[in-house]
Amino acid sequence: MAILKIARMGHPVLRRKADPIADPLSPEIAKLVADMLDTLDDIGGVGLAAPQVHVPLRLVIFHVPPARAVAERYKDAGLEDDDDAGVPMTVLINPEIEAVGDEVERSYESCLSVPDMMGEVARYSHIIYRGQDLNGNAIECTATGFHARVVQHECDHLDGILYPQRMTDLSTFGYNEEIRKSCG
Ligand code: NI
Repeated sequence: MAILKIARMGHPVLRRKADPIADPLSPEIAKLVADMLDTLDDIGGVGLAAPQVHVPLRLVIFHVPPARAVAERYKDAGLEDDDDAGVPMTVLINPEIEAVGDEVERSYESCLSVPDMMGEVARYSHIIYRGQDLNGNAIECTATGFHARVVQHECDHLDGILYPQRMTDLSTFGYNEEIRKSCG
């Protein structure tokens, strides 16, 4: 078990396009995923992309806690979840995202690489994502709402994009503590 150091906004590893993973079954990938799971569990976030732990490979992990937990955590930011049952921890290798329709929704996001901050980002409401799991099996899944948002946020990391770069209204960008205070 290892808790990995998180790269913060400004580090070059967060700005480059990550490389595809040739062999999802390799021991190096298994170790990386185990350490990323430990790291995310230790920090208590919902998702983590390999570049955030200084590894420029196309791999993300994420989960969506049951609706109540998400609503509780983000209640003051107006974030609502429509994925009641939540999504278990998922390892997604070489992911691709396809938007279903043009509908977007705006909501607050935060990122472990941009600590203590949050801001409003528009994301597709409905997507299909594809990739591979740790056994090399194909994954194909449709996602809506918070689930879709998390996947889009994490996959952006693989293309060197952090959520502030997606923001169109920088007046919504600020410290968690201040925004939660003013919304509460
Ligand atoms: Ni992030």
